[in-house]
Amino acid sequence: MTPLNVKGKVHWIGVNDRRKHLFENMWPLDRGVAYNCYLILDNQTALVDTIELRSGGDFVSKIEGLLNGRTLDYLIINHMEPDHSGEIKSIVDRYPNVKLVGNLKTFKIVEAYWGITENLLMVEDGQTLELGYHKLKFVMTPWVHWPETMMTFDETDGILFSGDAFGSFGTLDGAVFDDEVNFDFYEEEMRRYYSNIVGKYSNMVQKAFKKLEGVPVKAVCPTHGPVWRTNPEKVLGLYDRWSKYETEEGVVIIYASMYGSTEELADHIARKLVENGIRNVRVFDVSKTHISHLINEIWKYKGVILGSVAYNSEMFPLMEQLTRELEHMSVKEHLLGIFGSFSWNGGGVKNLFKFSENIEWELVAEPVDIFGMPNDEKLERCSSVAAGMANRLKALRK
Ligand code: FEO
Repeated sequence: MTPLNVKGKVHWIGVNDRRKHLFENMWPLDRGVAYNCYLILDNQTALVDTIELRSGGDFVSKIEGLLNGRTLDYLIINHMEPDHSGEIKSIVDRYPNVKLVGNLKTFKIVEAYWGITENLLMVEDGQTLELGYHKLKFVMTPWVHWPETMMTFDETDGILFSGDAFGSFGTLDGAVFDDEVNFDFYEEEMRRYYSNIVGKYSNMVQKAFKKLEGVPVKAVCPTHGPVWRTNPEKVLGLYDRWSKYETEEGVVIIYASMYGSTEELADHIARKLVENGIRNVRVFDVSKTHISHLINEIWKYKGVILGSVAYNSEMFPLMEQLTRELEHMSVKEHLLGIFGSFSWNGGGVKNLFKFSENIEWELVAEPVDIFGMPNDEKLERCSSVAAGMANRLKALRK
């Protein structure tokens, strides 16, 4: 896309990736993803991050065009994941005197990727760099999303170059700035990005917020998704909530079923939740919906009810994958209900119970394991899971 002015001397340069199917070769990109970077045309010039290699045609020509005959003095590297560092080598080849700005961990990865060991400006937490009009301050924010991650704050105009933080899946379809987009679309994609990519490090996001306390942020420039030049408080607020595991009232029921029995139990529980006064009940088949969307739903709602058929005396494999991922991400602060069915010796519910102990979510009712096909009596036993969940959720109402 054509570069756009963010404010004064700061320009957005971004590309849309609609070709890639899976982000990190794992997370579906049904609606694509955008890579953003920023060029500051001050007395001295600075590029903040780059984009994924060859994702945006001739990236260097774009930078040359904006520089309009000037040289590039600094390349600030907030994050080394290749979706942002892919063009570093081509920039260094074109501007051999450019100074790379990063921290000790950044430069270890720079050397490991490209063998670059010269023209490095190593910065520490709180260090500043004056470009002329703009004064940049570097804020170390490790693990948002990698250990080397930092943010760059422009103290002059209050612009936070935030890297992955405050980013989103979804391409920028003509609209780039928060005052140009319909945010309903991006809220879903932003939470999915947060929960899938950054959520594991929520405690580090909170630490980053502590560091930014009192910092007068007037615009947020992330490396994915919309650029927040009008209402940065909105995205800051959402990230604050998500990283504190604050959720909405509602229940995500995810079931694994082979021949329909566990599915029938799931539908029964969903109905009973509604009869118990709960709205926002969402039911998913773990075999049909990608784990990326399931994790996003779990990040949104307080209640989670998992049901698994027994499969070779274990959980159904795709349910096992989901629970493993939730444990890996250390997702916190949920209420949990468990149910399932079996035809010989069980295993689904037993292992879901082990999962509940590992992840330490509050169990709202005794797990229910049904032998054989559901009937009225067996369905009624599952009602206790719905009632337990509804009661706990209602008790949390203010
Ligand atoms: Fe968008 Fe951690 O890279």
